[in-house]
Amino acid sequence: MQFDVMTLFPEMIENACSHSIMKRAVDAGIISVNTVNPRDFTLDKHKKVDDTPYGGGAGMVLMAQPYVDAYESIEREENSITLMMTPQGTPFDNEMGRKLAQYSQIVILCGHYEGYDERIREIINPVEVSIGDFVLTGGELPALCVIDSVTRKLDGALGKIESMEEDSFENGLLEYPHYTKPREYRGLVVPDVLLNGNHALIEEYRHAQQIERTKKRRPDLYEKWVKNHK
Ligand code: ADE
Repeated sequence: MQFDVMTLFPEMIENACSHSIMKRAVDAGIISVNTVNPRDFTLDKHKKVDDTPYGGGAGMVLMAQPYVDAYESIEREENSITLMMTPQGTPFDNEMGRKLAQYSQIVILCGHYEGYDERIREIINPVEVSIGDFVLTGGELPALCVIDSVTRKLDGALGKIESMEEDSFENGLLEYPHYTKPREYRGLVVPDVLLNGNHALIEEYRHAQQIERTKKRRPDLYEKWVKNHK
């Protein structure tokens, strides 16, 4: 999987991808993460990427020319999709991550400041993606959420395939509670069922915990899960 990230702050992307599981996935050749900086495509000596909005208003608007030229400099594979990170996009979720993991290349546009000149959308025609109903100062953190979540789904990125299959959302439910040593900590003990080595019972307990947690914390997910299991 190749990620091509268009950003004015490439270090944010590069730094985040040089640790832990992301770094391992890069080193193993499971993903490659390239950055393209629209500032390198500006035509004036001040390397200007934004300007004041027509019609007035607060903030600066990202100019079309550096973004479109930067985008067109990226070599696109056949099985490629282009995303634009924006609070106006379709909310990202596990299902979208699963679909994105089928592509071999994901190009991601990260905005900053007040927003994109609308012609960037009209020319590039990206799939617009939001990571939630809140506004961040830029698209880099949202892009990293997508990159990280998609990478987890790629074969070999995690140690064991189970590590993903038991994730929250993978079966429509939240995860069950986890425990490790010691058996007792500050008077709190690990449930007996996890200690007896009976794997059928353990599985049953964990599944029941998943259902209970989901019902309590995310009634919306629970309703969906119930409908799918009728
Ligand atoms: N850029 C700023 N806020 C964002 C959000 N919530 N999702 C995606 N991109 C964004």
